[in-house]
Amino acid sequence: MIESVLREERIFYPNPEITAKSNIKSMEEYEKLVAWAEKDFEGFWDYFAKEKINWLKPYEKVLDDSEAPHYKWFINGKLNITEQCLDRHLEKRGEKTAILFEGEPGDIRKITYKELYGEVNRVANLLKHKFGIKKGDRIVIYMPMIPEAAIAMLACARIGAIHSVVFGGFSAEALKDRIEDAGAKMVITADGGYRRGKPYMLKPLVDKALANGCKTIESVLVVKRNNESINMAKGRDYFYHELVPNMPDICEAEIMDSEDIAFILYTSGSTGKPKGVQHAIGGFILWAQMTMEWVFDINEEDIYWCTADIGWITGHTYIVYGPLACGATTVMYEGVPTYPDAGRWWQMAEKHRVTKFYTAPTAIRILKKLAPDEPKKYDLSSFEILGTVGEPINPDAWIWYYETVGGGRCSIVDTWWQTETGGHMISPLPGATPMKPGSATKPLPGIFAEVFLEDGTKAKVNEGGFLCITKPWPSMIRNIWRDPERYKKTYFSFKDNIYLTGDDARIDEDGYIWIMGRADDVINVSGHRLGTMEIESAIAKYEKIAEVAVVGKPDEIKGEAIFAFIVPKEKITDPEKFKKETQEVVTKEIGPIAKPDYIVITEGLPKTRSGKIMRRILKAIAAGKEITQDISTLENPEIVKKLQSSKPI
Ligand code: WT7
Repeated sequence: MIESVLREERIFYPNPEITAKSNIKSMEEYEKLVAWAEKDFEGFWDYFAKEKINWLKPYEKVLDDSEAPHYKWFINGKLNITEQCLDRHLEKRGEKTAILFEGEPGDIRKITYKELYGEVNRVANLLKHKFGIKKGDRIVIYMPMIPEAAIAMLACARIGAIHSVVFGGFSAEALKDRIEDAGAKMVITADGGYRRGKPYMLKPLVDKALANGCKTIESVLVVKRNNESINMAKGRDYFYHELVPNMPDICEAEIMDSEDIAFILYTSGSTGKPKGVQHAIGGFILWAQMTMEWVFDINEEDIYWCTADIGWITGHTYIVYGPLACGATTVMYEGVPTYPDAGRWWQMAEKHRVTKFYTAPTAIRILKKLAPDEPKKYDLSSFEILGTVGEPINPDAWIWYYETVGGGRCSIVDTWWQTETGGHMISPLPGATPMKPGSATKPLPGIFAEVFLEDGTKAKVNEGGFLCITKPWPSMIRNIWRDPERYKKTYFSFKDNIYLTGDDARIDEDGYIWIMGRADDVINVSGHRLGTMEIESAIAKYEKIAEVAVVGKPDEIKGEAIFAFIVPKEKITDPEKFKKETQEVVTKEIGPIAKPDYIVITEGLPKTRSGKIMRRILKAIAAGKEITQDISTLENPEIVKKLQSSKPI
């Protein structure tokens, strides 16, 4: 059904020095773990849950599937995620740097485990005693990439409040939607931060969101970062630096159930409305920690750096919770990779002696394009493992990452996973798995992946189909916030309560999985999943527009660029101005990340007789590809030729 044209033949074997230091040292060891999980699924998870987690009260049962697809893990087990990430490290590594922060202007802060523990406790006390936050309350975090973002998350977790981090690049409108859906009581934010050498603002966007709704918000806590002037509403807005230092240094951790909600995080789906992906405490932290150990082979000496933003799941699992659960040093960087030049990341890696580095293919492509030889100017010999996430990495970028950045010594871990999976699912093991550039390789032990055709039968070798996870796993999504029906429909209605990922994939003759892209109406822009419907409804708010359809166009740097086909209400006389205005509307509604790159103005869209827009045709047109589909059944087949010959603005 889905044709795959990509074929990559090269294989790279892990460097023996990497293998010597790794937790899983060979494919035989890997296969053994896989076989164990296959034979004794619950016994496998039971072993790791007991070995890895400091339970305050042991669980009574590993897995409860009686209400599937609402799977429950570690039944009646009690814990607090911050004890796993902080308290238990105090004795052994209290003086070790937990967070190594570098701001874009070059300011550096090293926060030890002891200091982090103290600060998290003070903020937790503040939330609890000054702002009346209780277990289960929602707090929206809208922050730059500064340590206080992680501190705020952990402070919520300390008292059992549910955080929902909203990416700092989102607009006031998008922030408002998320605050309202979550019914949040409080926002934690900052005046702003630094990006591309300049201050940018966040607090004014919070003000705007709150002015237009968000009636559940009672208070706003504001961190000073860039010291630009902001408005503070009396009785609602408070400065972090004025209150936090006065709070008691110890706040007892709330005793949480394994299945209590850890956090919600909004992600795009195929309808206009973002989904509040709900994660549960016990399973999430277990898998966050295990994957740090398996995929990054994290150890006591590592300086580990993940470049994601805290607003995405990668920032949750692999900047904050996973590394801290392992007692690692996690690097946090505020700015863009190209400031002051395209050597910034390499310069930082050299300066801090970074050993494990985790980023996105889109960033690799940008840096390769801007300054392909730049990594050679720095001493990057500390690198051992280099990771990627967010989209398939094209073999060209892979080879550059491997050779130029990694000096041919490092393992590349191409990690496939999703907001909903909570942690890595398909990934090489750095000391064991032979790497094929462009493939995320094989499922991790305990994870069972298969590809099915539309009719529910298994795909043959190299045949493309729907990628599914056939058994539950601890860090899986538990629900969509306030929408269990959508949870079932989106993820579990394909076949027998197994998880439908929404990606197309094929499995090759060696059992390697190759992700082919999204099957639903979702565009992957720079590693971020954006719903086409959401972008369309934002564009449609512009009063000059009658109808719009948005598709992804393959893009050398971004992975996919946003291509909009727009039917205006009246003739457009100044297309450039029209494009700019359309982009402004989207920036206001969602944020600059969702701006259309290309616009075609058209009198109509290709539709079926029942009125459904034929997106596949639009996708082919945007990509400049031939249309293989039969268009004679369209309501308006003549539009296709017109669209093919029109030049995008
Ligand atoms: C979608 C999930 C997981 C954090 C980043 C994005 C794509 C992710 C890979 C990879 C090919 C990948 C998939 C997936 N994706 N990693 N290594 N190879 N594709 O999280 O926003 O939830 O997006 O990103 O299409 O479904 P997300």
